[in-house]
Amino acid sequence: MNKNKTWSDRFEESLHPTIAIFNASIGFDIELIEYDLTGSIAHAQMLAHTGIISSIEAQQIVDGLEQIRQEYRQGNFNPGIDQEDIHFAVERRLTELIGDVGKKLHTARSRNDQVGTDLRLYLRDQISQIQKAIRDLQGVLVKQASEHIETLIPGYTHLQRAQPVSLAHHLLAYFQMLERDWQRLGEVRRRTNTCPLGSGALAGTTFEIDRHYSAKLLEFDQVYANSLDGVSDRDFAIEFLNGSSLIMVHLSRLSEEIILWASHEFGFVSLTDRCATGSSIMPQKKNPDVPELIRGKTGRVFGHLQALLVMMKGLPLAYNKDLQEDKEAVFDTVKTVKISLEVMTILLEEGIEFKTNRLNQAVNEDFSNATDVADYLAQKGVPFRQAYNLVGKVVKHSLSSGKLLKDLTLEQWKEIHPAFESDIYNAITPRQVVAARNSYGGTGFEQVRAQLQDAIDLLGQSS
Ligand code: ARG
Repeated sequence: MNKNKTWSDRFEESLHPTIAIFNASIGFDIELIEYDLTGSIAHAQMLAHTGIISSIEAQQIVDGLEQIRQEYRQGNFNPGIDQEDIHFAVERRLTELIGDVGKKLHTARSRNDQVGTDLRLYLRDQISQIQKAIRDLQGVLVKQASEHIETLIPGYTHLQRAQPVSLAHHLLAYFQMLERDWQRLGEVRRRTNTCPLGSGALAGTTFEIDRHYSAKLLEFDQVYANSLDGVSDRDFAIEFLNGSSLIMVHLSRLSEEIILWASHEFGFVSLTDRCATGSSIMPQKKNPDVPELIRGKTGRVFGHLQALLVMMKGLPLAYNKDLQEDKEAVFDTVKTVKISLEVMTILLEEGIEFKTNRLNQAVNEDFSNATDVADYLAQKGVPFRQAYNLVGKVVKHSLSSGKLLKDLTLEQWKEIHPAFESDIYNAITPRQVVAARNSYGGTGFEQVRAQLQDAIDLLGQSS
């Protein structure tokens, strides 16, 4: 008989080789190994604490598991497809190392609560790493913002020139989005940090275990109150994919802006050689591959979220093998979000240079000060809607004569409305247009300085 067989003596034949490949998750769940070892160590210690195994046995098990950790770290633990998954692979190796005592590890436990524990340990760790990467990106945004408070950039709605804004204001909008991402992940982490260990296969166990003990060893904040829920809940993974999708939405929007800004048509930024690529045929090209790839990778993260939602929707309680599909979705998302945050940080740090001359020219070449003319009249008592219509006519005439608002003579202004005085010229300079928007959260320089200080304080507090 095959001494490496997986199942009980109920099975006489081994698995069809193709089905063995199809069934196995070891190809990807090796990612969980360190968490599996940590979870098993806590389980063994709990078994000793409750007297289910002796403390000598527990110590042998813990030593064996630590040895496997060393083997893995040295590259000497490479289980094959015949091991099916990481849980079996570790248990087998443990038994090879320490003999029959190794077979006691799985007392009062199932792979169902085991894999749930591993995935949560993995994810809470990864979430903390992603939160750190978000903070790094926020740090670079703050740095760029502090250098560009007085740099003006056209602000758009409908991708039409709307009103000029401080470039710092624009960059700090992304700081705020990322702040929500950071907080959202913190909330997800809190719910992820719930321990299913001891739920058994689905119904709990006949052994007098102490779930709170193992949960405490593993630094979980709480334990699942219901064993069926414990082994079949993947809400935390879906919440993580949702939080990740929103991070990618934000990175993708920023990417799209950088791509536009780097185009000849906008010309607001240039890309540095270290962060851009060339074309294999067109020697003049410099391509924004980095933001394009971030934008492109966003789709796969959304796909993983969708995959998990659909996978879960029809599952009866409790564990079903479908749940094995959660791993690749989560692992790939972790990898994608981390690298995307990291490269965006590099891109903002040393990959783009704002072309301040071109930006200055841009904010001086359009009608994005038209609202300010209407506001000027409204402040002198003309009802805003009436002022708005008057300015609309002026814009129309100016457009047909190829002139800008600043080109009108004072007589022309007065013909439009007698309330205009010579201070209209100052009121419509881009600098004044920006400075005047001093409402809370607006782009006025005072507001932007305050916003920047808050951002700096926030980063200081949480580091
Ligand atoms: N490899 C499995 C997974 O990832 C582990 C749990 C298997 N449990 C079972 N009853 N077949 O979900």
